[in-house]
Amino acid sequence: MSNKITIAIDGFSSTGKSTVAKRIAKELGYVFVDSGAMYRAVTHFAIEKDFISAKNFNKKGLISQLDGVELGFKFNNDLGFAEMYLNGSNVEKKIRTMEVSSFVSQVATIPEVREQLVKQQQQMGEDKGVVMDGRDIGTVVFPEAELKIFMIASAEAKAERRYKELIERGDKVEYEEVLNNVKQRDHIDSTREDSPLLKAKDAIEIDSSNLTLEETFQSVMQLVRMTLEDSE
Ligand code: CDP
Repeated sequence: MSNKITIAIDGFSSTGKSTVAKRIAKELGYVFVDSGAMYRAVTHFAIEKDFISAKNFNKKGLISQLDGVELGFKFNNDLGFAEMYLNGSNVEKKIRTMEVSSFVSQVATIPEVREQLVKQQQQMGEDKGVVMDGRDIGTVVFPEAELKIFMIASAEAKAERRYKELIERGDKVEYEEVLNNVKQRDHIDSTREDSPLLKAKDAIEIDSSNLTLEETFQSVMQLVRMTLEDSE
């Protein structure tokens, strides 16, 4: 397997994208990039600076300070994946809260935010050998990716998965709150004007509602092997 390819994994919230992408990257010795973490980090910045809250959304203010947002990933050997850094601080835990989840899709509608992050994502994938998950990876970030996966699942399967994840982390959340957030984000992400969540024409759809993580991983790995053979 000498040829390095680009693998784009897009899809709805909590369909298991990141978990599968992480495992695929590990298996292949590729770089894994969680593009959602970058939108979450910008959202964390916006909350801290008071540009977004339940009562206000100061888009102009946020856009004017985007130059002051420096994002980076640093690999954590103990965890086995790269953690998100914002202006030199590790924000990996802070960006996974319900508060960030409740505002991130609004922040992700801002074209100036998207432009800045897409540029950075494209640089990270310059040398191929990357597995990136998100909403617009196969359509906007890497339209030439050799393998594009589009993940879907039922609303209940998605909410249950995310609820379990948050509870295991020790967060105090209600199932209903998680279900509503997942539904609301999927709606905003699919209907926004700039780079909406869409299945690329050449993407392969996987419904993970009734699949275990291992089964999802195996189905994607099979597609990876076929794509690598084709690209030799
Ligand atoms: O919670 P989940 O892992 O499903 O989402 P995420 O990958 O952490 O992404 C959080 C949010 O960032 C999404 O709901 C989108 O609003 C936005 N996003 C985006 O617009 N484009 C991407 N490529 C990735 C994420």
